[in-house]
Amino acid sequence: MLELAGKCAVVTGAASGIGQALAHAFAAQGMRVAIGDIEADALLATEADLCALGASVLALRVDVSDASSVGAFAQRVDDEFDGADVVCNNAGVFAGGHTWERPVADFEWVMGVNFYGILHGIQAFVPGMIERGRPGHVVNTMSAAGLFPSAFSAPYTASKFAALALTECLAGELATVGAPIGVTALCPGSTRTGIASSARNRAEFTPSDPASEFVDRMLAENVERGVPPSDVAAMVVEAVRAGRYLQLTADGYATALRTRTDELLAGGVPSLPHFD
Ligand SMILES: NC(=O)c1ccc[n+]([C@@H]2O[C@H](COP(=O)([O-])OP(=O)(O)OC[C@H]3O[C@@H](n4cnc5c(N)ncnc54)[C@H](O)[C@@H]3O)[C@@H](O)[C@H]2O)c1
Repeated sequence: MLELAGKCAVVTGAASGIGQALAHAFAAQGMRVAIGDIEADALLATEADLCALGASVLALRVDVSDASSVGAFAQRVDDEFDGADVVCNNAGVFAGGHTWERPVADFEWVMGVNFYGILHGIQAFVPGMIERGRPGHVVNTMSAAGLFPSAFSAPYTASKFAALALTECLAGELATVGAPIGVTALCPGSTRTGIASSARNRAEFTPSDPASEFVDRMLAENVERGVPPSDVAAMVVEAVRAGRYLQLTADGYATALRTRTDELLAGGVPSLPHFD
């Protein structure tokens, strides 16, 4: 069991949704929390809320798609919080539509945050964690979409599949070198957050089309029906403590994974998933 009290938790995408809930959950465990996000105002508000609860907080505007920005975050965590013990690479954005219609820029934006953001987090924080030799944990936020591809969401799904593969490679490598650092692949289903308005964090505009508008509408409806982010954060705290690798957030996904494997082995295209 990993002891959390008195340690340092780093969370990216911490100004909203699952990341914000993670920061609160780790602070409630008596951890110092280092929070990073691209949205400065929301980050300040989150910092103020955490401080009001008595937490020790380091907040920094970070763009996870930029390696140097994540590197500067890690340096501040080293200098001010004596390094990270738990790192949650959580920031993420969504874009969808027909694969043959959406501009490559959509794929680049989503991959930049959802895949490279996680890679940058690993490269900025994990070497220091290995060097210090303290027991620690890395949590990478993927999605049920990282296990079940769904039509109309290729940029998002491809980024989450790639991130899941990256996460599994990391877990194997840390085990091979004998580092006392666990890894959790967090694959949430629908959660009530701001993910349906991801474009608020996008510098470059690409026009919508009927298919991308359809999937944006579906996502907004699903998210509205989703579980509160605090439920997901509570599962993550337990996964970190127990050293669990795969963390799903809905019971149905285990059956869906088996069904998908059977359908693949039967030579067909797996049926479309139902995200609950
Ligand atoms: N909400 C869901 O239903 C759901 C389901 C599965 C997975 N997820 C994943 O959960 C994670 C958190 O998303 P959420 O649902 O809480 O959405 P959210 O929009 O509420 O939070 C995402 C946070 O990431 C930040 N962010 C975006 N781009 C960034 C960048 N370049 N650098 C730093 N921060 C950036 C945003 O400002 C925001 O605060 C994402 O990886 C998302 O893909 C969400």
